[in-house]
Amino acid sequence: MRDFCPKAWSAICELCGGEDRIDTGSSTTPGLDSSVQDISLSVINDGFIVNVGSKADEVKWKDASAQGTPSGPDHLTPAQQKLLDPHDRTNWHVDGDFFHHFLDSKEQALLPIVLFKDIKIGGGGTMICPDAIPTMAEHLYKHPEGLMPDMTNIEGREKPYKDFDHGFFDEAVKPVAKTQFKTATGKAGDIYLLHPLMVHSAAPNYLRGRYISSHTPSLFIISFLPRSYTSLYISAPQTLTLATEPRFITNPPVALKQPFNFDRTDGSAYSLVEQKTLNALGQPQGLKGWKITTERKQIVPERVKEQAKMKKI
Ligand SMILES: [Fe+2]
Repeated sequence: MRDFCPKAWSAICELCGGEDRIDTGSSTTPGLDSSVQDISLSVINDGFIVNVGSKADEVKWKDASAQGTPSGPDHLTPAQQKLLDPHDRTNWHVDGDFFHHFLDSKEQALLPIVLFKDIKIGGGGTMICPDAIPTMAEHLYKHPEGLMPDMTNIEGREKPYKDFDHGFFDEAVKPVAKTQFKTATGKAGDIYLLHPLMVHSAAPNYLRGRYISSHTPSLFIISFLPRSYTSLYISAPQTLTLATEPRFITNPPVALKQPFNFDRTDGSAYSLVEQKTLNALGQPQGLKGWKITTERKQIVPERVKEQAKMKKI
């Protein structure tokens, strides 16, 4: 990131309390073979998240645009605003499906959203809920024994952890007024730097626009290297279809060398991210004596297992 997006890197360092606190090394994923287990930390990688939208959503958006009078900063009709209702989303979560979560977890110190293409309103911009940060912080504070990535208990489970349960997050955003949610729209090259406890959700891309080809898209993999953007491989016989407004983002986590420290003797040494967490807990001075009570552990999510299989195709 230092070379690829120096402005953002500078902001990342400021938010995390200095470059010396950020881990730019690598980690290994347990349980996978050696060809896929090394993961570089705090880098912009090729983990693109692409949303080309669907025909059904395109029709919904078009129909909604003809229902009522557009208003507001985004110039949307009431029907379009309804299609973007954050309370209708069912994918709320915080990132970091690869480790047991503690309040001070170092694996996900920031959540960047990197825009590789313009995202307009209705174009699938990530929805975020800043007002749910205190709920997240309180939950993790009360569970120094750690939690699964979906905020459920690690111990005493009736069934093994496999499928992500959005229940905790859905409840966390439910009382938040619609006006308090934000959408990560912007221009290609924009980067959002979100607090690690920012609850967020994917949103539909209603803006499919016109098409290069009329065929149905199939699996495609985009390879990204820092200075040789972009290679495109079509791995199935169907012709690739590209909408004019596909959403292209990445969400590379920023990792720390050491966990967040919420019990510093010198209060001025708290990073901005640490201070935000403390403020969210209503304890801006620090958490005297707070520490985790169980061992930190990595998890191999089903997502990573599937990606490992795809890389061998
Ligand atoms: Fe996410």
